[in-house]
Amino acid sequence: MGIGKLSDGLAPTPPMGWNSWNRFGAKIDERLVIETAEALVETGMRDAGYRYVVIDDGWMAPERDRSGDLVADPAKFPGGIATLANTIHALGLRFGIYTDAGTKTCQGLPASLGYEFRDARRFAQWGVDYVKVDWCHTDGLSPRACYAKWAMAIHAARRPIVLSICEWGRARPWEWAGTLGHLWRTCWDIQPEWSSVTTILDRQADLHAYSGPDHWNDPDMLEVGNGLSPSEDRAHFALWAMLAAPLMAGNDLRQMSDDVRAILTAPEIVAIDQDARGMQARRVRSDGEIDIWVRGLVDARAFAITLLNRGPQEREVRVGLNGLGFAATDVVRVRDLWQRSDVGERRGEVVTTVASHGAAVLRVERY
Ligand code: GLA
Repeated sequence: MGIGKLSDGLAPTPPMGWNSWNRFGAKIDERLVIETAEALVETGMRDAGYRYVVIDDGWMAPERDRSGDLVADPAKFPGGIATLANTIHALGLRFGIYTDAGTKTCQGLPASLGYEFRDARRFAQWGVDYVKVDWCHTDGLSPRACYAKWAMAIHAARRPIVLSICEWGRARPWEWAGTLGHLWRTCWDIQPEWSSVTTILDRQADLHAYSGPDHWNDPDMLEVGNGLSPSEDRAHFALWAMLAAPLMAGNDLRQMSDDVRAILTAPEIVAIDQDARGMQARRVRSDGEIDIWVRGLVDARAFAITLLNRGPQEREVRVGLNGLGFAATDVVRVRDLWQRSDVGERRGEVVTTVASHGAAVLRVERY
């Protein structure tokens, strides 16, 4: 953490919620958003921590109105955004919206360049709690200056609004975005493919120093339930939790399987993501097939350790505890956070079997 990073209490732990983009693209409407908000409540996801319902690109009409304000596409959102925000708030949820810092959104719709103060004011009037600001159509613009303007515009709108910076990690936002926004993308868009998950993961390995309460690295939204295998879904989710990543579900919550719901709401994995110390994991070993990631927790005697198997076969993995914050002679208590069961006491090392494209998550605690 550095001097000047945000610490305004709006995102003390990584924001959790749902975003329309990964599953629905620009094909979104009022009904989808309300049904999704209801599903967040009915499936227990809200109570597991998923609070933000965020509509991504595709919500706005092709032109601003006569006074220069953004308006919702009347065919997709006939009730308007303020009413939608109310409905979502009444369900005990928060409402998020999308715009772009340039001349057009990535889908070619009106964006906010030159309208930052007006748009932030309008969002505040609508009851918006979270705004994602994208980076398409920004030729020649400085990301730092544009997002600084957005931070000022939100401040001037006098409503607490989480700012999600989305310039894809191009201008090393981890070095400057923490003073402006609550989260910033560190990479290009995720896809529901294992190679995308591991490529993004590799880009996070050196970024742990930059994130903390109210300012988080964002390795992009979740693809859990969008076509990865069950093991891959678990590994993706576990690693995002280790990274203290914002957990934005990106699947269709109205018809997810029990297995997918169980992954997204796994209480002991979510608890790692939401650990109050906000310490992003470091990678301590990587030999091509096996990665070991470790993060400190608010309970200073404990660490979360994730063993990722990128290989094609199940593997037995031995992790020496010496050097991971433990002495060779320490007796530790080990718990498996996917199984939600105690493994027992160990000294010196832990040994675990990890499925191909899977990840075991252990909590290791010194006596
Ligand atoms: C960019 C962003 C995505 C999504 C789309 C919308 O690609 O990175 O997350 O918001 O734009 O068009």
